[in-house]
Amino acid sequence: MKALARLVLGLVIFDAAVTAPTLEPINYDSETYDATLEDLDDLYNYENIPIGQAEERTSIAGSREQRAPHPAPQPEEAEEEEEESTPRLIDGFSPQEPEFTRVLGPHASEDFPTCLLCTCISTTVYCDDHELDAIPPLPKNTAYFYSRFNRIKKINRNDFASLNDLRKIDLTSNLISEIDEDAFRKLPELRELILRDNKIRQLPDLPTTLTFIDISSNRLGRKGIKQEAFKDMYDLHHLYLTDNNLDHIPLPLPENLRALHLQNNNILEMHEDTFCDVKNLTYIRKALEDIRLDGNPINLSKTPQAYMCLPRLPIGSLV
Ligand SMILES: *[C@@H]1O[C@H](CO)[C@@H](O)[C@H](O)[C@H]1NC(C)=O
Ligand SMILES: *[C@@H]1O[C@H](CO)[C@@H](O)[C@H](O)[C@H]1NC(C)=O
Repeated sequence: MKALARLVLGLVIFDAAVTAPTLEPINYDSETYDATLEDLDDLYNYENIPIGQAEERTSIAGSREQRAPHPAPQPEEAEEEEEESTPRLIDGFSPQEPEFTRVLGPHASEDFPTCLLCTCISTTVYCDDHELDAIPPLPKNTAYFYSRFNRIKKINRNDFASLNDLRKIDLTSNLISEIDEDAFRKLPELRELILRDNKIRQLPDLPTTLTFIDISSNRLGRKGIKQEAFKDMYDLHHLYLTDNNLDHIPLPLPENLRALHLQNNNILEMHEDTFCDVKNLTYIRKALEDIRLDGNPINLSKTPQAYMCLPRLPIGSLV
């Protein structure tokens, strides 16, 4: 409550400053306070505040001086406006920083350096589109990591080391051509691995906890997937390997797999036991409802027995 009182007092002073531009710049003390977005909504009536000023208020309320070790330059325009009518902001936050980082700052992964560049909300780290050329250091409690549309070339052994809560990695649209063999293997909670649109030639060992794998649009080719790579992934339900120049279907397929996308590869043949069990005609692979083999030089009509156990025929050339 004391903190809230301090905040209210601060706002009253700030209000005075806005209406009386000749006032000296105010020294806000840098003690931490836990203002939430709800608190702010209660205190403000945004409708009566010009947009620029409303933004400044949010930024003051949501920040602390010591959270901004690198002063980020303010855009020129904003600076000019401030000099005219309002006291300069004491914090160094760029107004371009996403709103929630500033407002929720004290609740996120606080002073972690990566969170000053990227956006951290609770246990999620968003680093999309930041021209990164390597995986940045991540807070220990990171559960969801997005780093799409960057220029990362390699994933190193230690990039995700001891991130024991990591559940999802999304590195869509980077330049990854190399992944250390141990990069993912020891992540005990990893569920989703999305590496679409990269240049990966060789898939490393993967943890068996995975439920969703998307390595579409890479260069796995004939040797990029190891023998029995997906065999022990009991919970795997989506496996997307579109556009990879694969020349075979990676076997065996885990029993709970629901979707297998292999379109636009170089798969030439299918065997009677690829999906089904030729020795057991009562066996039904009931989970696997979505098989895509279109865009492959394969004639599915040649192996009519191969689909007996499936709930649906694969999509692909049947002529
Ligand atoms: C054949 O498949 C059915 C259904 O999956 C299973 O219950 C049965 O044990 C299998 N029989 C043999 C001989 O493997
Ligand atoms: C596909 O296989 C079927 C059955 O063997 C055959 O009749 C058909 O001509 C084949 N189609 C092509 C385009 O090779």
